[in-house]
Amino acid sequence: MIFENLKRKKICSDSGFDKIYPKTYQDHSARHFTPVKIAIKAAKLLVDSPLDKILDIGSGVGKFCSIGATVTDAHFYGIEKRKTLINLSNKIKRQYKIKNAHFINNDFTKIDFKKFNGIYFFNSFHEHFDESCVLDETSKVSLSAYKKYHQDLISKLNECEKGTKLVTFHTFKNKIPSTYQFIDMNETGLLKFYIKK
Ligand SMILES: C[S@@+](CC[C@H](N)C(=O)[O-])C[C@H]1O[C@@H](n2cnc3c(N)ncnc32)[C@H](O)[C@@H]1O
Repeated sequence: MIFENLKRKKICSDSGFDKIYPKTYQDHSARHFTPVKIAIKAAKLLVDSPLDKILDIGSGVGKFCSIGATVTDAHFYGIEKRKTLINLSNKIKRQYKIKNAHFINNDFTKIDFKKFNGIYFFNSFHEHFDESCVLDETSKVSLSAYKKYHQDLISKLNECEKGTKLVTFHTFKNKIPSTYQFIDMNETGLLKFYIKK
């Protein structure tokens, strides 16, 4: 029902939506997973056509991808290093028959970014930077890991084709390479939209 309502533009609260996840992830949602309204707005910025392929770097429980795939006809791909979160995302995809959401268990550095014409990034490496941002027992605070992942992110974003759209949430502009032109941001400034030059 939750996804059918979203398709019909009936927006639910995050606490209502998050009930599809086990309790432990409901508790993490406000900090780690994209709010419903933001996911809808980001998906609409990224998608122009049903042929679009959108990559979510660090897809977590799949919240952004499953919402994006419901409110648009494009294909959403979540890359996530934690197998348990991929299993959960696939379970929800099957349960709610979200055919255009796809989940890949790997490190984002192993993915060919050129295959995508839209990228979404919600500050995925913060767990390495901030002790209060631990997701599970595998989270490790390490400034060197944080810096390395950001360097890898810049290289991967630079590989993308001209015209690739990028939407970031909770991510400073100075983390995005200058090959991307800043286009706009939402009223809070937390959601930013860029296009590759
Ligand atoms: C803040 S959550 C964002 C979840 C999702 N994008 C959303 O908006 O709902 C960040 C996720 O990135 C994943 N992650 C962190 N580093 C990663 C990496 N190098 N490769 C793949 N996933 C990664 C974490 O496991 C975590 O689930």
